[in-house]
Amino acid sequence: MQKSIVVIGGSGFASKLKGREVEVPTRFGRVAVLLSETSEAKVYAIRRHGANHDTPPHMVNYKAHIALAKEVDAKAILASTAVGVISLDRYSPGDLILCSDILALNVLLGGKVVTFFDSFADGPHHTDMSHPFTPELNAHLLRAAAELSISLKESAILGATYGPRYETAAEIRALKILGADLVGMTAAFEAILAREQGTPYTAVAIGTNPAAGLTGKPLSHDEVIEMMSRRGDDIHGLLMKAIEIV
Ligand code: HPA
Repeated sequence: MQKSIVVIGGSGFASKLKGREVEVPTRFGRVAVLLSETSEAKVYAIRRHGANHDTPPHMVNYKAHIALAKEVDAKAILASTAVGVISLDRYSPGDLILCSDILALNVLLGGKVVTFFDSFADGPHHTDMSHPFTPELNAHLLRAAAELSISLKESAILGATYGPRYETAAEIRALKILGADLVGMTAAFEAILAREQGTPYTAVAIGTNPAAGLTGKPLSHDEVIEMMSRRGDDIHGLLMKAIEIV
């Protein structure tokens, strides 16, 4: 029996995803996916920001993307995500990095809540979030990286913002004091929903730029895309190898 795997491709990576265009209905709306098959797996690839990259981070239908994994009985969700680097002593732009934890500014500041549980009509749901990125999947990715001789760093804490703007220098200083190593606008919300749903999830983060205010240089989306095009093949290779292992 083939396993089903969902892949979520972020900024600059979606063009690497191939497959037959299909739409999968979920209770949160239809999701356009690229469906491909290997001898072991059916791969449902989602372009996080849409086929034309026209959906900004705060408008992504995260619930539909994660619910799709349940619809197709996926064994795991593997994502790619572009991030800014805060801990420049441990990680550099260009690095591929696995995260171990999340620091969600919305939790600290009382912003929008991303959850499947807007009602407790069928009982209370307080999800354990001790390991938002599934440790077994991180182990599989490390094995894939070793087999492909690709350097993959570990144990980063991902600070979450909504975007679509980049952070202010003061926000990055605050995130650093609080313990975040990286900052991104998307993967944390997917990780939270996947935990709530009970689907194993992790993301390969690619450090695309020093976070705001750390170098004095303004941030630009072009820089993010340029770094993704440099490391896109490695990320693709890693995810495809991990699909074999999962
Ligand atoms: N901040 C937030 N999200 C990002 C960044 C950043 O600096 N770079 C790529 N995605």
